[in-house]
Amino acid sequence: MSKRPKITVRAMQPSDRAEVAELICVSTNYWFQMNGNPAVFPDGPNSTSIYFDVYETLDAGENLVAVNEDNGCLAGSVFLHPRETHISLGIMNVHPNYFGCGVASSMLREATKRADEAGKPMRLVSSGRNTDSFSLYNRVGFVPRVLFQGMWLTVPETGLDATADGQEFVREATLDDVDAMVAVEFEVAGIKRPNDIRYFIENVHECWHVSVYEDAAGAIQGFAVSCEHPGCRMVGPCASRTEAQAAALMLTELQLRKGLTMAYMLPVACEELVKTSYSWGAKNYEVALGQVRGEYQPMNGVSVPTFLPETG
Ligand SMILES: CC(C)(COP(=O)(O)OP(=O)(O)OC[C@H]1O[C@@H](n2cnc3c(N)ncnc32)[C@H](O)[C@@H]1OP(=O)(O)O)[C@@H](O)C(=O)NCCC(=O)NCCS
Repeated sequence: MSKRPKITVRAMQPSDRAEVAELICVSTNYWFQMNGNPAVFPDGPNSTSIYFDVYETLDAGENLVAVNEDNGCLAGSVFLHPRETHISLGIMNVHPNYFGCGVASSMLREATKRADEAGKPMRLVSSGRNTDSFSLYNRVGFVPRVLFQGMWLTVPETGLDATADGQEFVREATLDDVDAMVAVEFEVAGIKRPNDIRYFIENVHECWHVSVYEDAAGAIQGFAVSCEHPGCRMVGPCASRTEAQAAALMLTELQLRKGLTMAYMLPVACEELVKTSYSWGAKNYEVALGQVRGEYQPMNGVSVPTFLPETG
């Protein structure tokens, strides 16, 4: 683009829903296809409205869009969710017409200003294939702290021919489990987000399932969530004290998603869990970077992030 557009950043509104869904779809597919990868959202913009729906349910008024002042069209969008311990940055998108024009940097400036005012670290997970987003985040102080391997696995119609030790301790979560789940994730990853966990269990968008690992003494040792929607088929977030518990939890969630290809991101340092995932038939499709701007607590157990809502 020869002339830099005049961009303003404002809060996302309910009336932006359709345009934000279009933007997420075209921007992500365009970037990945331009770089020789398949489309990330082959089901089109109807599938990507789930991002708007989830983030606006959790964080209405916090999300941002960038507007081209000359024609009123959206040039960019980003989801922000402030939580007690940190601010997460969800999927960031710029319309391909505006790539390289500073649109993402404008939105990120507003986001980092809010984090600095709140005195909170920021967290995100980004694709290791995307040097543009790496540069964008790195220049404002994000540091990659954890390496994840993005894996996907097609669960046969008859289910996976696998079992995991401790699966008998896994059961469906209820709202009574929220406090214990929050405590496990805080211990493992140093983050707290009771509202997200309550939202998963309440399942208003009818695409979530949540399991907990409750040991013989009745203590919650971990949890796993999965999402089944054309815009996001993932297992995660998952947090547990041990890799064996994570395997039992994740296998339980996978067995519920028969006939589907599910993605998940395992910390590369969790070698046993990775080995178990290979034994189920999973393949790597990318590496992803868990990035933090500000204070970071090294992982103390297993934390499996997701892109919806962004967790790291
Ligand atoms: C990644 C994406 C958001 C970048 O948006 P953009 O508006 O083109 O980015 P900007 O023009 O604001 O440039 C970002 C910064 O990175 C810098 N940059 C870009 N490439 C760089 C490189 N190779 N090395 C160092 N810096 C680089 C730019 O100079 C700019 O910094 P500045 O504002 O301090 O000058 C956009 O390409 C996109 O939407 N891609 C598809 C979706 C996606 O990948 N989202 C991220 C998900 S993790």
